[in-house]
Amino acid sequence: MASSGIGVGLVGLGTIGTGVVRVFREHADEIEARLGFPLRLAHIADVDLETDRGVSLEGYRLSRDFKALVEDEAIDLVVELIGGTTIAAQVVTSALEAGKGVVTANKALLAHKGAEIYALAETHGAPVAFEASVGGTIPVLRALREGLCADRLFALRGIVNGTCNYILSSMESDGEPYEACLKRAQELGYAEADPTFDVDGTDSAHKLAILLGLAFGVHARPGDFYSRGIQLIAPADIRAARRMGLRIKLLASARRLDTGVEARVEPTLIPTGSVLAGVDGSMNAIEVRGKMSGPTLYYGAGAGSLPTASAVVADLMELARARRLGVALRVPPLGTHRLEPSGLLSSDQERGEYFVRLELGEEDRSRRVSVALAEHGVPLVSLESPPGEDLTLTTGETSRAALDSALALIGSAASASHVIRIEKEI
Ligand code: HSE
Repeated sequence: MASSGIGVGLVGLGTIGTGVVRVFREHADEIEARLGFPLRLAHIADVDLETDRGVSLEGYRLSRDFKALVEDEAIDLVVELIGGTTIAAQVVTSALEAGKGVVTANKALLAHKGAEIYALAETHGAPVAFEASVGGTIPVLRALREGLCADRLFALRGIVNGTCNYILSSMESDGEPYEACLKRAQELGYAEADPTFDVDGTDSAHKLAILLGLAFGVHARPGDFYSRGIQLIAPADIRAARRMGLRIKLLASARRLDTGVEARVEPTLIPTGSVLAGVDGSMNAIEVRGKMSGPTLYYGAGAGSLPTASAVVADLMELARARRLGVALRVPPLGTHRLEPSGLLSSDQERGEYFVRLELGEEDRSRRVSVALAEHGVPLVSLESPPGEDLTLTTGETSRAALDSALALIGSAASASHVIRIEKEI
């Protein structure tokens, strides 16, 4: 342990790392008052130490190589904020093997290699904390792990990608094109280094995999459940949603059924007056339902430098307290000592109500679509076919497979079809 207080090493000086430096610089007094002892950022490692990030690095030991930081005896806790799953895995693994506590915001790493990392943490008696990996600043993982630990949870759903929510909100309120909204989300520091992970649903799937572990004690990887992003959402979908009194949100959801746990990430049409529909910009919200607790809602900034950094430093404080008390893993990382193997239900059995937009030639199109749906037993609730615009329709409750078969039948005539799930009971 560092001679006075507990020493923190930060690996990765990007958007969140810079935020962490600011939290330490600006809130050192509050942090010490709340802990009762000092928590010092002592060492920073990044391959680029030249770029001016608008924060002073004076007083910190600086290294280009994370190994020097992990080996530094003044460092008790290591923060991994470089992202990705290769070097980041080495940082986390080497720190745990050295018996140092680890804090990370790396949802991709945890979603893919969480099981190995938690096992390593247990073997070495070193804690790993990752509140900032889901929902940015929102203490939702802590709520699941501790606040709701006496309950049996049966459903959760949420908006867990700030970039997508920002894009959808801006397209809707300002009528801005998708590309311009994405560019602004990148400038504001919400997007991943490769924003494909945001918009194609991968980032939300990473976060849902982590939530599945905490909420249901299920060990799931992102490929175990259906996920889709927002790249195909067009202004025509947003106009149609408005006409129906609905809004489009990228939802991550999961439910515990008698037969297993069902999970998915996909753009979903939800009633305009619902709580989740009111979550705008880069904000995130996660609604959890428990047998005893009923519904609870967790809302806040889901992305961005300082909100996310605040969650990182809160984790450091938690680990520092435990270290001070000589306790390594006060609570297991996923809140349980008994994780079930994945056991997720297959998405082939998916049922629901759907909205469909079809780019289809004008001639006789309403009749062709109605016939194809009827042939596959898909109930048609509404159909609009304004001249010169895409045809849109909504279905009643149906199997997704039947709808896909009907669309395949129309497929040769349609240059593109786009399906969005409708959730009216939310
Ligand atoms: N790119 C992520 C998002 C950052 O937009 O939500 C926070 O995890």
